[in-house]
Parts: sequence; structure tokens; C-alpha cells
Amino acid sequence: MDFGELIAKRYSVRAYKADPVPEELLGRVLEAARVAPTAANRQPFLVYVVRTAGREEELRKVYHRPWFTQAPLVLCVCTVPAQAWVRIKFDSKCYADVDAAIVMDHMILAAAEAGLGTCWIADFNPAAAREVLELPEGVEPVLFTPLGFPTDGPKPKERKPLAELVRRI
Ligand SMILES: Cc1cc2nc3c(=O)[nH]c(=O)nc-3n(C[C@H](O)[C@H](O)[C@H](O)COP(=O)(O)O)c2cc1C
Repeated sequence: MDFGELIAKRYSVRAYKADPVPEELLGRVLEAARVAPTAANRQPFLVYVVRTAGREEELRKVYHRPWFTQAPLVLCVCTVPAQAWVRIKFDSKCYADVDAAIVMDHMILAAAEAGLGTCWIADFNPAAAREVLELPEGVEPVLFTPLGFPTDGPKPKERKPLAELVRRI
């Protein structure tokens, strides 16, 4: 699959099989996180891998949709903002969340290539996430995704036309 096919194939999967994710495929997904670029190569992130079996109730407090716990695994990208690059010279903008998004996108695309489904989740309860993942101070949950084999299929992609999104100046 070339890159164009891969990005066309990826979609938000909202129905999963309970089938386990083979360790080799999980390894590929996590390796994609490891090689992701981060600002100044600070790598200010942690990926939490949660097995959903038996933890459905507490995970539902993190994100309430039933499909969240259908997949055998849930991944969470957390940042360690104190380790992140900050644009100190100008406005002190912290790039930790940008790094987290790149890490998640790498994992999501690696998963799609491996035939696995994912769905970006930002609408989770951060306090519940801290509790379930037992996050220490200084580690911030940024994004979740289930990871498992899909039982649904892609819908047509609704996107703005390029003319609305691109300014050539
Ligand atoms: C940063 C981010 C956060 C998102 N959060 C959620 C979420 O909390 N729940 C959800 O069901 N989908 C979430 N999505 C999925 C988007 O709704 C989805 O990517 C978008 O509608 C495009 O559809 P597609 O992923 O199938 O191409 C999120 C996507 C992104 C990029």
C-alpha cells in the first residue's frame, strides 16, 4: 500500500471485534510512535497500552461510547510538558500537544496499514483518565484511541475543497 492509499484507507472506526491484537502488530504500532518526530527531538511523551478486558466499567468513565471498550486495547498518548520544547525566544508556546498529535497520527497510520482500526478521542474525561491510568503529576493525557480489528466500514470522507483550505500567496 502506498502512502496515498493508506491515508485514503484510514477512517474513524467505531465498531470493533473483541479479537486480540497480535503482539507483532502492536509492536509495529508502538514502533511508529517511537520514531515520530518531536520538537527539538525532546520526545516528551508516554504511550499507555490498556487491556480492556475486565476494565470496561472504569474505562467507560473515561469515554462513554460503547465501542470504546469493544476493542481489546486502548492506547493513550500522554505528554510530559516539563520535557517538551517551548518557543522561549518569542512567546513561550509549549509544543507538547503538537508532539502528542504527531505520535498518535503515526500510530494510527501504522495501525491502518496493519489492518487495525482506531479512532482519535479527545472528548474524554481527563480526571477519570488520570485515575484509570494512575498518572503521576506532570504527565498529561492528551489523546486516546481504541485499537482492534474493525467490524464497520469506511463512510465517504466529507472534506472541504482544497480551494477553501489553501491560500497561495
Ligand atoms: C484531535 C481529534 C479528536 C477527535 N476526538 C473524537 C472523539 O472524542 N470522539 C469521536 O468519536 N471522534 C473523534 N475524532 C474523530 C473525528 O470526528 C474524525 O476524524 C472526523 O470526523 C473525520 O472522519 P474520519 O476520521 O473517519 O476520516 C477526533 C479526531 C481528531 C483529529
